[in-house]
Amino acid sequence: MSEHITVVDVGPVRTVRMNRPDKKNALTASMYDAMAAALESANSHADIRCVVIAGGPGAFSAGNDLAEFAQIAASGEGLALPVVRFLHALARSERPLVAAVQGLAVGVGTTMLLHCDHVVAGADARFSTPFVNLGLVPEAASSLLAPRLMGHRRAFELLVMGRPLDAAAAQACGLVNAVVPPDDVETAAMAAARHIAGLPPEAVAASRRLIRGSPDEIVARIDEEVRLFKQRLQSAEAQAAFDAFLNRKR
Ligand code: COA
Repeated sequence: MSEHITVVDVGPVRTVRMNRPDKKNALTASMYDAMAAALESANSHADIRCVVIAGGPGAFSAGNDLAEFAQIAASGEGLALPVVRFLHALARSERPLVAAVQGLAVGVGTTMLLHCDHVVAGADARFSTPFVNLGLVPEAASSLLAPRLMGHRRAFELLVMGRPLDAAAAQACGLVNAVVPPDDVETAAMAAARHIAGLPPEAVAASRRLIRGSPDEIVARIDEEVRLFKQRLQSAEAQAAFDAFLNRKR
């Protein structure tokens, strides 16, 4: 469905990989669709017991493709349906999610981690959510999940003030479980995924549901953010920020 997303099943572990290195894995509509489909179909494959979300060396993801944001803003529409489909698929995933993060994780590259059950990061990882700098608001239910995870003030610093977290800070605030040398990220993430996949699946699913609470609450917050995001995409603040990025001189 997208040349930039690969989906590989090895035994009970599915790996969904963002693979658009020339654009630092910035996510396009077709990439969101492919990732959503991979998460949705894992729910109906009993043999798949854990899903790993991975990027590549130096870049987990640079976030939403800003050229697509600029197009959406110009057309007067809201977030593309594939984005919303992916965010819902994250919230409603019935399989435990493990993330393998190397290098930069910007915007949804960071907020998707709030839906993951286990996150392994390289020592080179850097997490940032420049939503407000772009004239936007947080998405992916990060306005709900980040304060729950790290407390209001650290969530405000990340989501509103736009201050990045390095790997150690991300581990200190609970966004990341383990920090390892960048070359060891995938091995460590796969080891965690295989461990989870080896546990009794019904007990894992029931425990995960207890820990996460109702996905409906998370989906409701995603939809509320999406409504505000649509307004913000049309704002002069956002359009100026997209223009500045797309026309920057380097
Ligand atoms: N959307 C579209 N293209 C993007 C992108 C994005 N979010 N992030 C990076 N790219 C592209 C760059 O335009 C560049 O393309 P080009 O070589 O055709 O010009 C390529 O990816 C490499 O990026 P570059 O900026 O040269 O790499 P860098 O290491 O200097 O900086 C970032 C990396 C991620 C810090 C920087 O690209 C950036 O700030 N990107 C925007 C991140 C963002 O705001 N995301 C949305 C959050 S809501």
